[in-house]
Amino acid sequence: MNTERKVVTPMITDQASGLRATAGTHALRSPRVQVIAVSSGKGGVGKTNIVANLAVACARAGRHVMVMDADLALGNVDILLGLAPTHTIEDVLARTKSLEDIIVPGPAGIDILPAASGAQELTHLTYEQQLHLQNEFLKLRRIPDLLFIDCAAGVSSNVLYFSLVAHDSVVVISPDPASLTDAYATVKILSTRYQQRRFRFLVNMARSAQEGSEVFRKFSMVTDRFLDLSLDYMGWIPLDPAVPLAVARQRAVVEAYPKAPSSRAFCRLVPHLDRWRSERPMYGGLHLFGPASWGAALEPIA
Ligand SMILES: Nc1ncnc2c1ncn2[C@@H]1O[C@H](COP(=O)(O)OP(=O)(O)O)[C@@H](O)[C@H]1O
Ligand SMILES: [Mg+2]
Repeated sequence: MNTERKVVTPMITDQASGLRATAGTHALRSPRVQVIAVSSGKGGVGKTNIVANLAVACARAGRHVMVMDADLALGNVDILLGLAPTHTIEDVLARTKSLEDIIVPGPAGIDILPAASGAQELTHLTYEQQLHLQNEFLKLRRIPDLLFIDCAAGVSSNVLYFSLVAHDSVVVISPDPASLTDAYATVKILSTRYQQRRFRFLVNMARSAQEGSEVFRKFSMVTDRFLDLSLDYMGWIPLDPAVPLAVARQRAVVEAYPKAPSSRAFCRLVPHLDRWRSERPMYGGLHLFGPASWGAALEPIA
């Protein structure tokens, strides 16, 4: 690459604009894909379980589902589902593998894009890496109609990027007060710095429907006071001993214990996700991987 040339805007290089041009061409002929980013703020609230189970439940309902493990520093969707990937997104970013090469087939026909484990430096994707990933996605032989992104905990630029470029941003909270403060920090940054206004909230590990809506109510009271947001209560998943049992068996709970309360709750959420598709147009077919997202490159958050 010619280092003499001027960088036009932060992180946009000539190499990147080449990628952008190619990806833009692909985007024009891309089918519609619904992109749902799942984040939380705090780790351990159940994001990965939620992504894996919603993915399997949606696939069973007839959708072609892909899961991207965007917890690039601590990937675990594959471990959760008992899969042993040989290659990861790290290989795609290093350009030694295509995205197609790293897909691991999961339960119910879902496609999994495994993350690298323990590669700290991948927590922050550069603008070029974001573009390369988008470009690779658009070259897939069969583009899914639903893509879940399991984001890392915290507010790295990677999490912010994936939340911003998805159609729907689902934030997982739990009755644990720490999950509320961390989720607040995430939506605050996304709304004040990046003008993201709309979030869907899912309460995990609630002991009753009442506790689920109470946790959401508490959270929205605080955001209503301090932030200008549109929050949507998506529902709740019960605290259920079947979840850790399924985790121990490296299976999705909806597969291992389909009659468990949490499995039923996951299946009840599927129509919600379908409904979101018709709530607003998915312009360009691909919001995440189309021209609409090119402006979303984020500078690393210190
Ligand atoms: N609804 C639930 N009921 C009981 N335990 C749960 C539930 N959801 C998640 N867990 C447990 O919480 C732990 C963290 O879940 P995980 O999905 O890995 O969280 P995250 O991806 O947010 O870090 C797991 O050990 C899992 O068994
Ligand atoms: Mg996780």
